[in-house]
Amino acid sequence: MTNKITEMLTMLDQMHLVKHLQSLAPDERKAFEKHFAALDLSVLDEDGTEEQRGHFEPLYATTLREIEQHRAHFTETGLQAIREGKVGAVLLAGGQGSRLGFDKPKGMFNIGVNRELYIFECLIRNLLEVTSAAGAWVPLFIMTSAENNKETQAFFREHDFFGYSADNVWFFTQEQLPAVDPDGKLMLAGRGKIVTAPNGNGGWYASMEKTGMLKVVREAQIEWLNVFAVDNVLQRMADPCFIGAVIESGKVSGAKVVAKAAPEEKVGVLCLEDGKPSIVEYYEMTDEMLHRREPDGTLSYNYGVILNYLFRVDRLNRTLSVKLPLHRAFKKISYMNADGETVTPEAPNAYKFETLALDMVKLQENCLAYEVDRNREFAPVKNKTGVDSVDTARELLRQNGIEL
Ligand code: UTP
Repeated sequence: MTNKITEMLTMLDQMHLVKHLQSLAPDERKAFEKHFAALDLSVLDEDGTEEQRGHFEPLYATTLREIEQHRAHFTETGLQAIREGKVGAVLLAGGQGSRLGFDKPKGMFNIGVNRELYIFECLIRNLLEVTSAAGAWVPLFIMTSAENNKETQAFFREHDFFGYSADNVWFFTQEQLPAVDPDGKLMLAGRGKIVTAPNGNGGWYASMEKTGMLKVVREAQIEWLNVFAVDNVLQRMADPCFIGAVIESGKVSGAKVVAKAAPEEKVGVLCLEDGKPSIVEYYEMTDEMLHRREPDGTLSYNYGVILNYLFRVDRLNRTLSVKLPLHRAFKKISYMNADGETVTPEAPNAYKFETLALDMVKLQENCLAYEVDRNREFAPVKNKTGVDSVDTARELLRQNGIEL
């Protein structure tokens, strides 16, 4: 086995690992062999070239004004679906939150000022508003990573699930992929252990399958899954009006979107790509696309996604065999250096490989773009300070009447 691994590492131009392998004691070597065999090394073929994009066209959104006109009807349809047990929620909480620089799961961050108010708590409170209006629980699936799973589960238990029903919460862990340094070299996490990182938020449905969560979905006959990010403290999950609007539209998916603050705003925009719903990143847009306007003056590519999607389960099942594109993200990743010391970098130092939930939108026949008011529903906590930071999120929470 060791010879085979040496051969493979040599072929992959990972000679530093051959040297490391030779330095291991027999029992360490055995453990390394097992660990190595389980790694998905296909990431080493990724050269950073992004996929070719197709032909983009604008996709029109159901606007705030239109939604307001039908709010009561949409909400009732959504509440009915929730009461019938057709809706599940999936909280994506496996990220590393490296930009925030908080060494615990991001949901454990205390966004309160004069009192404790955790990000997880903000989300659960919003969900409790829905479940009390519906008079029914929404099954909640929480995706964690190998790194933060234990801590996340313990935190929810310690806080009594913030008033949610523990019987209606399931935790599952996403998979990991090896990370590489800028020269494409695998890194060591410790003796006989290669650095891996969570495989992105696009693997959530595949991970639900691998961890047995889809059995729960099937048994409970859940028809819709609402998937969303942990780090938007104004996130409204299982929003009945959104669910109702998607159901009434007859579409197989929906995405919450916000109108762009300016043509150059750095958000991914929901549009059509070769006739299918898709997200075009701000850096992929031409000047013409950025500034194109409709006859009523609104930007043609106006609606940014906020990582809150609704998918029909039967359509998701069809996508299980599809390989989503892998994206590289340059991040701060701790590793063990040649002297055996652990290095915790101050700046991004390595590439991790991720599939993205937004790439699942492209696999849907259609998608309802559902506009929400960014001041009421979009307060992302990405950075310590500045844009999309703790400060901006606190300000938005205050504006929404939440005491900090
Ligand atoms: P981000 O793309 O902001 O990544 O995640 P991140 O890892 O949390 O933060 P940075 O980039 O290191 O600062 C958007 C959402 O997707 C989840 C996150 O938890 C967040 O809800 N996510 C991200 C996962 O669940 N798994 C991943 O592998 C990556």
